[in-house]
Amino acid sequence: MTENDFIPRPYKNSIQDGNITWSSPSNIALVKYWGKKTNQIPENPSISFTLDHCKTITTLSYSAKQTQEKFAFEVYLDGEKKDDFKPKIATFFKRVENYLPFLKNFHFKIETSNTFPHSSGIASSASGMSALALCLMSIERALSEDMSDEFFIQKASFLARLGSGSACRSLEGDLIVWGTHQQIEGSSDLFGVKYPYVVHNNFKNYQDTILLVDKGEKQVSSTVGHGLMHGHPFAKRRFDQAHENMSDLMTVFKQGDLDRFIEIVESEALTLHAMMMTSMPYFILMKPNTLEIINRIWAYRRKTQSKICFTLDAGANVHVLYPENEKTQVLDFIKKELLEYCQNEQYICDQIGFGAQLLGNDNQ
Ligand code: PMV
Repeated sequence: MTENDFIPRPYKNSIQDGNITWSSPSNIALVKYWGKKTNQIPENPSISFTLDHCKTITTLSYSAKQTQEKFAFEVYLDGEKKDDFKPKIATFFKRVENYLPFLKNFHFKIETSNTFPHSSGIASSASGMSALALCLMSIERALSEDMSDEFFIQKASFLARLGSGSACRSLEGDLIVWGTHQQIEGSSDLFGVKYPYVVHNNFKNYQDTILLVDKGEKQVSSTVGHGLMHGHPFAKRRFDQAHENMSDLMTVFKQGDLDRFIEIVESEALTLHAMMMTSMPYFILMKPNTLEIINRIWAYRRKTQSKICFTLDAGANVHVLYPENEKTQVLDFIKKELLEYCQNEQYICDQIGFGAQLLGNDNQ
């Protein structure tokens, strides 16, 4: 597939107005995407668990308009008009216009809400952009003569990527690869694909408890963060390492080797943060409590032989990952020993999920 394969042929159908609702989850990367080329092409392949409970639900209402010069839309979060979201969506519309030539033909109302607290420090861009991309694809499907389910999801992922890179890994589950990797058949820089090989039962229903250490706005936006990889002294080595870690994870998924899984996942998280600490300008995105939690997880693992581990995104919150059969003990440990390091003792229990869902489609 190339970018041009996503430019549609002239539409056969016409529609006037209607509304579509999709829910789309967040995802947590095991091998991290950090660094991109132009047009949101990743510098290295990444792989993520799709989450189940942390989701965005978006209703896109559309009505045909008379003039077609400009984009026309408004955005609501939890029923409240959000003009400060508009520039990001306008940029997204501009980027995808070539692939969705109907965008200027309609007036859109975008109503969105998240299942996780808005100011939790959990990025809603992956779930939000994937939900919006899916709504737009539902319109394209109504305008088109026929469209396979496979193409629908692939193009939705392609569009979501242009909104926010990691969003292209949120449409399906439970394990999604984005970025070309030599050993993973079908992997692409343009969209996310399901991990195509058998995965050991040890990873079924894997748990992710998200500890909210710092609920503030991100200190460094991901756009700035990715930019810091340009000219970064360790960039080349890091991108190679991501390829190697992907290859190693393939063996881990086949054999169910949880010890090696822990090593790769924790090393990836710390490498992501190490990249930010060694860029110019440099940033420390972990907080003292992030380190307290990491040390306690390591101590608990030494003491109990648990297969618990952590990963981080580009912030201070900690994702605690563990197999389902340890759920009771680990939750007990989290409540007793880790919650004191969270802001207002807040945490979210999640687990691996299976992707987006169409909740409503009303075309006229
Ligand atoms: O999708 P973006 O541009 O917000 O970048 C996300 C980057 C990380 O969350 C840090 C890593 C990843 O692969 O999700």
